Amino acid sequence: AIDPNFEENRNVVEQHEGHNVWGPVDEPEELGIHGTHVAVDFDICIADGACLEDCPVDVFEWTDTPDHPESEIKADPTHEDQCIDCMLCVDVCPVDAIDVDPG
Ligand code: SF4
Ligand code: F3S
Ligand code: ZN
Repeated sequence: AIDPNFEENRNVVEQHEGHNVWGPVDEPEELGIHGTHVAVDFDICIADGACLEDCPVDVFEWTDTPDHPESEIKADPTHEDQCIDCMLCVDVCPVDAIDVDPG
């Protein structure tokens, strides 16, 4: 599961589509965590898609991650600023790849 304390345990190593990427990153195998308020651990995401289908405000978009061992696309929190803290994505992700920090 995603580390709920990733902001203390990791560092921002780059930006992607306007959000933070928390390392370590070593492409293509290691991709880190994308986003901050809505954070997706790309190294855990298996592209299940439930978060994209269920988010009421369309926070997520697919992004290509060729040659990553878990999946070749990931749910990217492109519109994390629109999140309404319903926590649905956290509940539906089968591999607990998502962390949302309300407030
Ligand atoms: Fe979307 Fe709700 Fe998840 Fe926020 S908590 S990203 S609004 S599903
Ligand atoms: Fe990935 Fe979980 Fe969404 S596996 S696509 S973050 S439901
Ligand atoms: Zn991203």
